[in-house]
Amino acid sequence: MGSKKYAWHKVAVGAAELQWTPGEIAEVEVDGKKICVARWQDQWFGFAHSCPHAGAPMTDAYVSGGCQVVCPVHHLKFNLKNGGRDVNGEGYTLRTYPVEVREDGIYVGMEEAGKGFFSKWF
Ligand code: FES
Repeated sequence: MGSKKYAWHKVAVGAAELQWTPGEIAEVEVDGKKICVARWQDQWFGFAHSCPHAGAPMTDAYVSGGCQVVCPVHHLKFNLKNGGRDVNGEGYTLRTYPVEVREDGIYVGMEEAGKGFFSKWF
């Protein structure tokens, strides 16, 4: 796969600015689109606001060991490190977004190439 091009959007100055849920997830908005961000160990991850299984709000999910986020409704686990694939092998993939922590803030990358095509599916 070729390298993806991202448009980076600053979503916060720092972690303290975000509203964290008990499950250690924060909701941010990029271009009017809600996205979840989470931290696991020293890494940040961005992922879709809705579960790909049946649309549960992922803000009610929680981050568990192994860099997984667990859906609040049917408890599918998605591995944020491997692009959001469910760990049970049921074929669901949670859309993920890269997150960068820079000196001046937290940034979420939105893919530029193919944006129109993918927005049809996610
Ligand atoms: S809605 Fe998330 S696992 Fe079913």
